[in-house]
Amino acid sequence: MKDSFGRTQDYLRISLTDRCNLQCSYCMPDIPCFLPNENLLSEEEIFEMAKIFVMDFGIRKIRLTGGEPLARKNAGEIIEALSRLPVELAITTNGVLLDRFFPLLKKAGLTSLNISLDSLMPDNFQVITKQDSFYQVFENINRALSLGFHVKVNTVVQRGMNEHELLDFVAWTRHSPIHVRFIEFMPFDGNRWQWGKVVSYREMLEKVTTFFPVEKLDDDRNSTAKSYRVPGHAGTFSVISSVTAAFCDTCNRLRMTADGKLRNCLFSQKETDLLTPFRNGADIRPLVRHSVSQKQAERGGLPGFDHEEAPEAYAHGGCMTAIGG
Ligand code: 5AD
Ligand code: SF4
Repeated sequence: MKDSFGRTQDYLRISLTDRCNLQCSYCMPDIPCFLPNENLLSEEEIFEMAKIFVMDFGIRKIRLTGGEPLARKNAGEIIEALSRLPVELAITTNGVLLDRFFPLLKKAGLTSLNISLDSLMPDNFQVITKQDSFYQVFENINRALSLGFHVKVNTVVQRGMNEHELLDFVAWTRHSPIHVRFIEFMPFDGNRWQWGKVVSYREMLEKVTTFFPVEKLDDDRNSTAKSYRVPGHAGTFSVISSVTAAFCDTCNRLRMTADGKLRNCLFSQKETDLLTPFRNGADIRPLVRHSVSQKQAERGGLPGFDHEEAPEAYAHGGCMTAIGG
């Protein structure tokens, strides 16, 4: 399926729940914006909708997100069901509950895990996430590695919060075959975004290269990350320039919220309700086609982040937990 700019749309991210067992400062609004329970996709609805995307629209990859996808009731059953579709299945998790799911994830054919970790210091982890789960997550990352998973660690970099840990993260790649991804802090509803808290990917690279020699690695076409390796290190690191250099020209992503709304862009101001018509027995395929045809060239049609009106403009697209990361 192509959008009106000729970009193939073959990657669907499905949010399993907007609830989470952590409250990361860059994500959770002070006033939670929870979706009503009765509007959430049931297990069967997730499967049936996913099937349409895979069979009728050529979606090749599905990533489960949230909130925290593994905190969803029956997450295991959903993963098992989706693994029967001819699609690459992936997950982004905060890692807290991972140990309960390893056998199931292996059986479902997942080979790679994206795990969020914003600090290597237990105290700072608690400041950022408001929970005391550092060791649980850290141990689960190590377990995932020893089980042979390809592990990507997502680190949202915020000034004054964890920017001073960049070198520690890169040092961690020396003996651990992990792939750390430093992500620029993006604005969403209620997430206290300010320019002053953004550390640009250039600045991140500068910090790392003052201490480590680095070599550039090749990136996949649709990759949002620019990857590097410190020569001799077992793992790699990359920077994701979501704010200072958008990568919309190769975007192949669609998103489904936990209440069954299709978003053609992370920053779109409009969603297409698929669940209500689906429950009424209507054909959702024309709605999907229409939504994809409306995908904007860049950032859901919003002004660049460097525009004065940006913080206000980005504050109305929905909060991250409801959109699904
Ligand atoms: N800016 C950048 N990344 C974010 N994520 C959540 N909120 C933000 C934000 N404001 C990312 C986290 C997590 C993933 C689900 O979404 O890195 O790994
Ligand atoms: Fe894709 Fe929208 Fe993100 Fe650009 S801003 S990369 S179009 S999801």
